[in-house]
Amino acid sequence: MSTLYLDHLATLQRQAEQALARSGFDTLLIASGIEKYAFLDDRPYLFQPNPHFKHWLPLTNHPHSWLAVRPGAKPLVVYYQPDDYWHVPPSAPEGEWVDAVELVVIREPEDAAGALASLVGPRTAILGEADAALPGLVPNNPELLLNLLHWARGTKTPYELAQMRAASRRAAPAHLAAREAFLAGASEAEIHRAYLVAAGHTDRDLPYTNIVCLNEHAAVLHYQYQDEQRPVESRSFLIDAGASVNGYASDITRTWVNPRAAGQEEFAELLAAMEREQLGLVAEVREGVDYRDIHLSAHRRTARVLRETGLVAMSDEAMVAEGVTRPFFPHGIGHLLGLQVHDVGGFMASEEGGVSPKPEGHRYLRLTRPLQAGMVVTIEPGLYFIPTLLRQLKASPHGGQVNWPKVERLARFGGVRIEDDVVCRAGGEAAENLTRDAFAAR
Ligand code: GLY
Ligand code: MN
Ligand code: MN
Repeated sequence: MSTLYLDHLATLQRQAEQALARSGFDTLLIASGIEKYAFLDDRPYLFQPNPHFKHWLPLTNHPHSWLAVRPGAKPLVVYYQPDDYWHVPPSAPEGEWVDAVELVVIREPEDAAGALASLVGPRTAILGEADAALPGLVPNNPELLLNLLHWARGTKTPYELAQMRAASRRAAPAHLAAREAFLAGASEAEIHRAYLVAAGHTDRDLPYTNIVCLNEHAAVLHYQYQDEQRPVESRSFLIDAGASVNGYASDITRTWVNPRAAGQEEFAELLAAMEREQLGLVAEVREGVDYRDIHLSAHRRTARVLRETGLVAMSDEAMVAEGVTRPFFPHGIGHLLGLQVHDVGGFMASEEGGVSPKPEGHRYLRLTRPLQAGMVVTIEPGLYFIPTLLRQLKASPHGGQVNWPKVERLARFGGVRIEDDVVCRAGGEAAENLTRDAFAAR
């Protein structure tokens, strides 16, 4: 059995025991979650497991199961495996986790209440969504306990890093297949399908809905459609797409330019400048660095790009001070990544809770903690030509400093985002770049 997984379980057990003791509980029950149905319909939505459950077990498609953590004992898994001829029920328990736990198989969701009844008392913490409640088994989600667990989740175990390396390796060839499709003139929907085939995923497996943007669509941060229609001209392509491995996500963005498109040189120059700054930002990921400072550095770097490419005629300092970089870079530099694409705990002031504030005027930043060794974060600077934000800039006192004809030419390419997943290492060592390593291994 893999010691990586066993060590991971041992770490979680230790963290949970400490968190239980500190928060005044002695038993932890975790509901995997339930399937939800469309209103007035019998079709379920895609199942989203409780991340606390898949933290312990590589089980991502297992509604109505439970996990019990008791100090000094093996984890107990109440495994829901119905007799169901309408659907494929979860397979019989298998995998390295089986030998590491005590196992009870149930055939009806309600049977979990009986299987866990002896563990429920006034000092039992039950983590789960309200809908997962069963008689006598009602989630109470104690705040301090959740905070302690969420803080701990910020740093990954070696097992988790192995899953996340694999998630980047799964996505990298799919990104390259998507690029090929783009260069061949494919539609957004066709590119999306090429991505899925190369990743060996269906839509159901993706950690988040792929963002597949041709041309001006790259200016929509979370563009949610995929046109079936092929574009008249494929100028630029932005794809933000990941992959999943045992419940862990990658979150990767690449922007490409068609070397045959008219006027592509200016966009290629912008893309190269952004690539340089993105690598510079990745190099800023070090233990102890305040992630907010990396976000603010991204604005200084955006200013440099805007000045060097002749888009804005102001000093870098003035551009940042006057907020001129913000319409071009209107999101955060990144976030924690792991079991969730935007992983929990990004704003915590300490392991017990509280809020570490965002820099004023930077409301979309999702991580305000100092970096710790073992954290996985994204670094995803962008520079976009977003009509509604540019209109405001044009009307502002600084509108006269912007090269609007150049903006108009570049707006046909939408924008740039480059996003890597990086692991903060200990002792001031440079970060491990999961994404670039995965592309390099191709
Ligand atoms: N894929 C969403 C994000 O990059 O945060
Ligand atoms: Mn991201
Ligand atoms: Mn992304």
